[in-house]
Amino acid sequence: MIELAQRAERLLPPDVWAYLMRGASIGESAWERWRFAPRVLRDVRTVDTTTPLFGEWRSPIGIAPTAFHRLVHPDGETAVARAAAACGSPFVLSMRATTRIEEVGATAAGPWWQQVYLMRDRGITDALVQRAAAAGATALVLTGDTPYVGRSGGRGLPPLDDRLALVNVAQHVRPWSDPWAEIEQDAGAVLGDIRRLGDLTGLPVIVKGVLRPDEALHCIDAGAAGIWVSDHGGRQLGRTVPPAHALPEVAGAVRGAVPVLVDGDVRCGLDALAALALGADAVFVGRPALWALADGGADGVGAMLSGLWEELRHAMGLAGATRIAELTRDLVVER
Ligand SMILES: Cc1cc2nc3c(=O)[nH]c(=O)nc-3n(C[C@H](O)[C@H](O)[C@H](O)COP(=O)(O)O)c2cc1C
Repeated sequence: MIELAQRAERLLPPDVWAYLMRGASIGESAWERWRFAPRVLRDVRTVDTTTPLFGEWRSPIGIAPTAFHRLVHPDGETAVARAAAACGSPFVLSMRATTRIEEVGATAAGPWWQQVYLMRDRGITDALVQRAAAAGATALVLTGDTPYVGRSGGRGLPPLDDRLALVNVAQHVRPWSDPWAEIEQDAGAVLGDIRRLGDLTGLPVIVKGVLRPDEALHCIDAGAAGIWVSDHGGRQLGRTVPPAHALPEVAGAVRGAVPVLVDGDVRCGLDALAALALGADAVFVGRPALWALADGGADGVGAMLSGLWEELRHAMGLAGATRIAELTRDLVVER
């Protein structure tokens, strides 16, 4: 993965690279806090990674929503969606995508989910989620950690043509208005918005950006169908507890009431193995998908996803597990 990041850095303009890496952690991965206590003498000739999660996936390693894919490759979000479908991995389309929702829906070749930012103009938010539902999204991922854009590690928008950046919203903003102001996040978003979005679309709503057990339970009470443990790749509030540390407590509190998802610094099969053993139902990668897209388009993303999947399967066998359900808390100890 380090080589992939290095190739992407060489390929991308410095200001684009800086945008991607804003907030990225440096040094030791937080997942390394966890050590494995493998089982022995288990028949692991067949390792099955099938994952039920609002649908059924071959791999529990999916693509987290990231904005502006055409910033790094002209094929953008459709390439990433196709690569994810080919690997049997969940793909989440960002509400700040540079490809029309309908185009992604028509070319995805598999189920996909729509990420949601609640915008100041709820009419625009509602129109976008309804378009996503009509285009075939099978779940919504409501980002809860972004009342406004954070400043962790830098500020500002990436260098991107407005026509691309606003491709999904242009038709909804009032003429002569400042479109960026109209689509800005609503700092007044509340828990009640979870159920409202679900009722509006009939889709399950996963809340992304949860780092506390009590907040996970509040979201579930308010109608969340899934909890996504995330610190937004370090880009929102600075110095948050890493998802790799927050996950076990959140999963412990949720106790299987709804699926638990996690992202943040997942870079190899061992990171994914630790996350799944600590109670996650699926893990997601953000920046690696953008590096892979920059490096090799859809093929690059496919190679990255299948590489991680292979590493996970290999590690599961060595840990003595043949199914995702066998990845339980006793497999990891704190270093
Ligand atoms: C360039 C970039 C853009 C992002 N855009 C979004 C977004 O539009 N919506 C969202 O919910 N999260 C967004 N995120 C956060 C990711 O979904 C994810 O939480 C994070 O990248 C995971 O960490 P990782 O990059 O270490 O894998 C973005 C992250 C990056 C790096």
